[in-house]
Amino acid sequence: MINSPQQEAVDAAITSRRSIRAFLSKPVERADIERILEVAARAPSGTNTQPWKVYVLTGQAREKLSEAILAVNADPEQARRHTEEYAYYPREWISPFVDRRRKVGWDLYSLLGLTRDNKAGMAAQHARNYRFFDAPVGLIFTIDRIMEQGSWLDYGMFLQSIMVAARGRGLDTCPQAAFTQYHRVIAQQLGLPENEMVVCGMALGWADPGKVENSLVTEREPLAHFARFME
Ligand SMILES: Cc1cc2nc3c(=O)[nH]c(=O)nc-3n(C[C@H](O)[C@H](O)[C@H](O)COP(=O)(O)O)c2cc1C
Repeated sequence: MINSPQQEAVDAAITSRRSIRAFLSKPVERADIERILEVAARAPSGTNTQPWKVYVLTGQAREKLSEAILAVNADPEQARRHTEEYAYYPREWISPFVDRRRKVGWDLYSLLGLTRDNKAGMAAQHARNYRFFDAPVGLIFTIDRIMEQGSWLDYGMFLQSIMVAARGRGLDTCPQAAFTQYHRVIAQQLGLPENEMVVCGMALGWADPGKVENSLVTEREPLAHFARFME
């Protein structure tokens, strides 16, 4: 089988995407951000409903949101009053999902030299989410509350398209559900209308190649474990 250059380029854009958790301060051109979002908005959606809405935060706007969230996150009393608006994960974990979840967590923490008893170190690493891992661009995604499960499927395609289009330009990303916990802070800071619900955040920028956390390469199940060919 001979791969065409186009095939190679598309596959590389998809397979070279990894969640990057340390970025350089080098800015991303506004034109690149706009083009990435325009390209991603070509994602399909049921009856072309295009359920996505994105807030692009740079400079002071990004800083202000990070500071507001970190202030709440740093105070356990306040933090306890904030919870996600939708369930991303199952209420009860079962194998094999919980095993994969644990593995990626420990792989990341052990790269960072964080041991199981270092709760403060783990909390500090988690808090880095709220600085968008120092990426110059922070994206906050919302959806109209009226939309149902199908639109969330569409939303995932939009998000993945952003991440792949970013790779095509040598840029990196980290999708971030961590922001959902502080949706009320986000709503207040960004002035979200009542009908908009926070889906997630995303860091966008240039990966810092010197940071150990960026060397994490996550595993995937072999094809035979998730695909069944029937003739
Ligand atoms: C919707 C979504 C939300 C995520 N939220 C976070 C997050 O809040 N913080 C984080 O560090 N990684 C987050 N991740 C990254 C996952 O941990 C990562 O995709 C997974 O471990 C596979 O690794 P890879 O992206 O490097 O292939 C999220 C991924 C997705 C798809």
